[in-house]
Amino acid sequence: MNIIVVKNAEEIAKVAYEKIVKAFEGKQEFTLGLATGGSPLGIYDLFRQHKPNVSHVMTVNLDEYVGLAEDDQTSYHTYMAEQLFNHLNFKENHLPDGNAKDLDEACKEYEELLKKHPVDLQLLGLGENGHIGFNEPGTPFNTPTHIVELTESTRNANKIYFENEEDVPTHAVTMGIGSILRAKEVILIASGIKKAEAVKEMLHGKEDIGCPATALQKHSNVTIVVDEEAYSLC
Ligand code: GLP
Repeated sequence: MNIIVVKNAEEIAKVAYEKIVKAFEGKQEFTLGLATGGSPLGIYDLFRQHKPNVSHVMTVNLDEYVGLAEDDQTSYHTYMAEQLFNHLNFKENHLPDGNAKDLDEACKEYEELLKKHPVDLQLLGLGENGHIGFNEPGTPFNTPTHIVELTESTRNANKIYFENEEDVPTHAVTMGIGSILRAKEVILIASGIKKAEAVKEMLHGKEDIGCPATALQKHSNVTIVVDEEAYSLC
């Protein structure tokens, strides 16, 4: 794994933004895997400022909550529209359908889409408990897109985005670790002391389903961009 340690979240955004744009610039077509949460906000801000040409870029998001309408203020559909898709003209934008009548079928369809359009570069955040996407500890490393029950830790970390704690969905649809590992390149970003334990485990722990991010150890093209706090236990 290629590890880049920078001063703070702003620097992480700059480094990651430049790497992402360099990867899709000049290509005929490109599939870009995107993430939500607080970590990528600086990157999306740079996209809005610089407005690179993305007309050949198709995006696929990692995950979506179950049971929220697409236009719900707290859905990842809304997050992505507000942060990115309303501002730049991508070729196509896709997120898992967490509001489908038949969720199993929706998962299968999403996995088929990913197989038809292999991800060239996947951007990842990191959960405090080491989750990637919404793949919680204990998820086998070969899982395709699937439905997950969110852990208390994850619901707790995400409650800041909801008006009431009980509004935080209990389930989500997420690309599996198997789906994520098929990406040709992965960039994982993490900042702040709250991520330090997970970063240490991801980099120095044994490859184990107890920490989903350790699955990245066997991937041949991963760059981890972290700040000094997140790297402080390494
Ligand atoms: C959520 C998302 C993940 C994200 C993680 C970290 O659970 N589903 O994709 O990487 O949290 O979020 P943050 O960047 O807000 O710390």
